[in-house]
Amino acid sequence: MASAGSGFLGARLLPPSVPDPSPRSLGSLLLLSLLVLGVWAWWELSRPVELIRGPEEVGYIPERGRDKAYTANQVRRRRKKGDLPPVYPNGWYHLLDSHLLEPTSVHNLTVCGEQVAVYRTACGKVYVVDAYCPHLGANLAVGGRVVGDCIECPFHGWQFRGKDGKCTKIPYAEKVPEFAKIKTWASCEINGMVFAWYHCDHIEPTWTIPEQEEITSKKWVYRGRTEHYVNAHIEEIPENAADIAHLDFLHEPSILSGIDLRYTKSKMWEFLRHTWKVQWEAEPAPNKHCSRMTLKHASLVFGKHFSLLDVDVVARQVGPGIVFLSFQHSFLGQGIILHCVTPVEPLMQKVSHSIYYQKNYPTIVPRFILLAECTQFERDVMVWNNKKYISKPLLVKEDSAIAKHRRWYSQFYSDNSPRLTFQEDGLDW
Ligand code: FES
Ligand SMILES: [Fe+2]
Repeated sequence: MASAGSGFLGARLLPPSVPDPSPRSLGSLLLLSLLVLGVWAWWELSRPVELIRGPEEVGYIPERGRDKAYTANQVRRRRKKGDLPPVYPNGWYHLLDSHLLEPTSVHNLTVCGEQVAVYRTACGKVYVVDAYCPHLGANLAVGGRVVGDCIECPFHGWQFRGKDGKCTKIPYAEKVPEFAKIKTWASCEINGMVFAWYHCDHIEPTWTIPEQEEITSKKWVYRGRTEHYVNAHIEEIPENAADIAHLDFLHEPSILSGIDLRYTKSKMWEFLRHTWKVQWEAEPAPNKHCSRMTLKHASLVFGKHFSLLDVDVVARQVGPGIVFLSFQHSFLGQGIILHCVTPVEPLMQKVSHSIYYQKNYPTIVPRFILLAECTQFERDVMVWNNKKYISKPLLVKEDSAIAKHRRWYSQFYSDNSPRLTFQEDGLDW
């Protein structure tokens, strides 16, 4: 028995005779791999890009032996806040992109330090209400259900109407009291996005968000989005448009040199540089809530102007937190990035960029534009996340647009606009 068993094992251990692969079969294998790779690359490059960065991911230099989250927390704790303007300007703020809000779904979002429940009815109408139920405080957006025009609380089933906040049903009560109501937020859905209106004195919207006709008519289509968090006062972000001098310094190195400001000026990438010609101005009445930056971008390759990379950009700021960044290229077409800043906490801003582009252009073009914009934006994030706000900055004549911008932006604050109270507000996250 034993010898029969070992004979069998011995036979199995003999190396099988495998024919040498012929150059022909190797060639077919290589061709097949290239084909699969090509199909994957085409699929990957032709779908909208989505780049979501967490609050600690960008703009920090990690302390030795520590991770980014630890560093981000330390930076927030020890930063000098400066003499800050009020923290929540009055205006429209982006909540989320429309395609992320399915019919009968509800999302819990934070805007100007408040928790809101954003929901879409089966008929497609969007409503924004306070997230906390006035009965016993359950969060309507966490387990709540959309019923007709109402949102139903997951705790005891009270239903609130999105239009006016009125409670329409208490499943176990004989009568719904008149005073049973939830706070509603003015909201609108335009350009593929949902916005909510914030005003510290509860004043109704005083201006509207312009419609971008090319988005509504689907001449320009959605090609992706990015999401970032910036650890700074909201005003620092739009002020960047009027800070003309930083463009030819911080944004001059080639995007190939990345986002870490310690290395962007490295010699390796010097062969490609960006130059910017910029102008910033406030718009007159009736659009006093708007301002405009016009910008001509050019690239220098080995010091020579390379006109193929010239882009004309108009960044129209509408209110305190929305920018329409339209760009035009001689043969790469036209499109727009909607850049939206929403205050989450006094010194924490959520920033989204959504790109819409001419539909007859391959997705790779807007993908590249969005990622290039994002690279430049992340350089700014590194400054914003670590800087102090200076209420009386040391400006030279060439910085005059910054002072103009501050005067323009002050229209979004009123006497009752909330200010940061240093001991209480958001030092932990
Ligand atoms: S807490 Fe919402 S119904 Fe009771
Ligand atoms: Fe910038």
